[in-house]
Parts: sequence; C-alpha cells; structure tokens
Amino acid sequence: MIETTIRGEARARNIEVCRRRGIVLPTLEEQKHPEKLDPEMQKRIAKVGLWDLDPLNLFRITWKNEPAAPGTPAQSAGGGFGGVNYLEFPPEITGVKARIIALVGRWFPTGAHKVGATYGCLIPALVSGNFDSTRQKAVWPSTGNYCRGGAYNSALLDCESVAILPEGMSRERFEWLKEVAGEVIATPGTESNVKEIFDACHALVAERGDDVVIFNQFDQFGNYLWHYHVTGEALLEIVQAELGRGQELAGFVAATGSSGTLAAGDRLKDLYPAMKIAASEALQCPTLLENGFGEHRLEGIGDKHIPWIHNVRNTDMAVATDDEDVMQLLRLYHEPEGRRFLADQGVAPDVLNNLDVAGISGIGNIVSAAKMARYYEMGSDDVILTVLTDSMDLYHSRLDEVRETHGELTRAGAERIAYRHVHGLRTDSMIETTYRERKRIHNLKYYTWVEQQGKDSEELNQQWHDRNYWKSVQGMADTIDEMIREFNAEVAGR
Ligand SMILES: Cc1ncc(COP(=O)(O)O)c(C=O)c1O
Repeated sequence: MIETTIRGEARARNIEVCRRRGIVLPTLEEQKHPEKLDPEMQKRIAKVGLWDLDPLNLFRITWKNEPAAPGTPAQSAGGGFGGVNYLEFPPEITGVKARIIALVGRWFPTGAHKVGATYGCLIPALVSGNFDSTRQKAVWPSTGNYCRGGAYNSALLDCESVAILPEGMSRERFEWLKEVAGEVIATPGTESNVKEIFDACHALVAERGDDVVIFNQFDQFGNYLWHYHVTGEALLEIVQAELGRGQELAGFVAATGSSGTLAAGDRLKDLYPAMKIAASEALQCPTLLENGFGEHRLEGIGDKHIPWIHNVRNTDMAVATDDEDVMQLLRLYHEPEGRRFLADQGVAPDVLNNLDVAGISGIGNIVSAAKMARYYEMGSDDVILTVLTDSMDLYHSRLDEVRETHGELTRAGAERIAYRHVHGLRTDSMIETTYRERKRIHNLKYYTWVEQQGKDSEELNQQWHDRNYWKSVQGMADTIDEMIREFNAEVAGR
C-alpha cells in the first residue's frame, strides 16, 4: 500500500544529498510532538521564518507552530512550538448551540496543512529509494495547496518538482508557485476538474518515462497515513483540552478533496465509536450526494470522483455546502461592517481578530458542521471538530472580486447575510449514509480508479470487505518512522 521495498542505489544517492545539505528528516512521531525535540534544535528552528526554504522547516510540518504575532506576516515569522492551533466558532457565528472547534492550518509552512500530506507521500519513497532525488522530478498533481506543499518540500529536500493545478485557481497560488516550483503546469478548468489533472500526469509519464515520479494525493496512502496519525493526534489533544464534564465528541467534519483529512476522523472513531464522520462537498458539485458534477467556488475541494484513499465505509454523513453561503460568509467575516455586526452580536474580540484563519473551504467546513449540528439536534454539550486547511492569506483576491460584484457590505447587508446564511441554514442537501448509500459512493470509485486509472477491482473489493485493509495502512507509521531513523543515521554517518 505504501511502497517500502529498498532500492539501495537510489537510496544511497538520496542519503548523499541530505548529507551535503545537512538535512535531517522528522519522523511522524516528531511531527506529532515537536515539543519533545532536543531543546537546542528547537532554538535553531525558532529562528527560521515559517515559509523559508530551509530544511529545518520540515520540523514545522506540525499543528503546533507558534502563531505569528499580530501584524507580523506569517511567512517570515519564526517561533517555537506550543499547543495545537485551533479556534472555536461561537453560536453567534454558527447559528447553533453545539460547540464547533476547528484546527488551524494557517501556521504550517506554505500556509496550509497540505504540506503534511506531501511529506507523507514523498518521504517513504525518499528513504526507501523508490524516488531518486538526484535524477527524478517529483510531480504534484493538485487543485492547489497540495502542489504548493509538494513544491515546497521538494525545494527543502533539494529535488526538482513539477506542480500541476487547474488554471482557474487563485492568483496567489500561481504567483507563489512561480518562485518555488521547478515547473508549473496549468490544466483546463477549476477545482472540480481533477480528471484533467490525471490526464496531465499520464501525458508527463508518456513523454518523460521514469524521469518523473507522480505523487498522486488521491490514491497514495502516505496522505491517509499522515492525517490519520498527525492530524488525528492533534484533534485528540483538542478533545483532551476542551471537553468539559458531560460533553461529548459528537462529530468530525472535513471537506473532501483528496479525502486525506477525513482519515483523521478514522482515528477519532477508533476511540469514540459513537461519533459521526461527515464528508462535505460543494452543493454545486454533489458527487457524494447524487453522483453529480458541476463547477463550484470552494477552492481546494477536487471533485467529480471519490478518491481511492477515502474509507467510505466509515463515512456516516455526506453534507453539501452551498458555495453561495460560503462566499457570503466570507464577506460577513472580513468586511469591516461584517465585523462590526458580529461584534454587536457578542462575538468576542479574540475570535473576531482571528477569523482570517479560515479560508474558503474552512468556512465551508463551518457551514457543514452547523448543518450537521442542526440535523442531529445537537446542544451545547456536543462538540464537533473540523479543520481549516488554509487561511484568508490565499484569498484576498477572491474577497476583492466579491466586493466588486456586490459593492461594500452595509449594515443591512450584514444583517441579511446573518439571517439567510447563518440562522437560515437548513438540513437540506445532506444524507445520513445507510449501508446502501455508502456502497453506492464506494462503487463510484470503480469508474475513476479501475476503468480510468487502471487499478485492480480486487483491491476495490478489499477496501469494502476486508476489515484489515484500512488497519494495515494505519499500522504502517512505525515502519516508516523506523526507516526515517535509519536513513537519518546513515546521513549522519552513524
Ligand atoms: C483549501 C483546501 N481545502 C480542503 C482541501 C481538502 O483536503 P483533503 O485533500 O485532505 O481532502 C484541500 C486540498 O487540497 C484544500 O487545498
């Protein structure tokens, strides 16, 4: 499932590169608990800017980076490690009594947690020698943040990269990629055009053979594994810190792009079997809900297919979020009049001043969590966890576009948005997935993965029937960590 067969020659070349550049690779365990790193090492890391192209930032692939001081750009901020970064969205913002708490991805290098998924995919290949960093280019097919993370990690590890993403993604993404990725390939369409990304990968392989290695987040279990362990552990730390007496972990919501983030829900469910996992998508492209297709504005949520690594049998609910709800809430959260309105509703300044930790898909997750809370009639003792993959840092141009279309937000406009898009949210366009619904969603994988991308239908059946299938992926973390330790030891000449 994750290729760990050792290719000695390539591995030795990778070791040589890391030795030359003084690169040490963190284990997944260290990314879960960077606070346990050697204090001297922590001091060195703290001096490096968060987005700097410095291999020490591999250790910053963690949910525990110290946030930048207000007014300091995230990119250049240094800092140590603290607790997990999260923000609770109060009822005045969500319109429901349930507690909705979101992990914050902004404080990862590149400003999005997807850099972790790329690490999870790249590192097993690097330390085993299944990717030769001196000869091959790492290809990162993505709807945006994954290829940014992949290009970033490639740069830290001194290997060449190719970023592939749809041409309709935000200007901020392309501008940054121009600086960091070796090559950028823009494919036709927007975030729901994943098939076009796969086509570009096939074309690259046809043209360049094994000069390229495709790190496909939609089918590589390194993505699943990273989130199951690292994101799963971060969520469990929130549970420990936040759940008061009588409160219950009721749900986990994640929008599915590659469905990597959803894997963290599997970890939670192992320990809290009664909680519900909701996979969220755009109403304008209702693939989970009704095998549908369409264009939408929730950047980062690749669509029209079910990722190979989605453990559908564990998904209790599919929720569609109307992208109009999200774009209107973007205005409410970020226009000056929206902020004033929210303050008048009683939203505390420390929440208001931090709302820009939510990017577009993050707001979508808050909306989906609120719909889930309404559906299950949850109260203030119920806690729903979710994730803010990236932040407003990547969407100022989108806010400008909305402002150009709708004009500046007025008080009456803010009231209208709250009335319709917060308190007016209903339980439409969502399903509690029965056995048959789950099977229907699972079966959709056939068309993308077996028919189109050449996977084995036997393995597809195993994903459904074999209880050990997902367990055996989850169990690979120790093996990979051990391989990383051995690799580091050889880099250090031990
Ligand atoms: C902004 C944003 N939100 C959500 C997602 C979905 O996350 P995942 O791929 O883990 O399902 C992505 C994935 O790239 C993303 O970039």
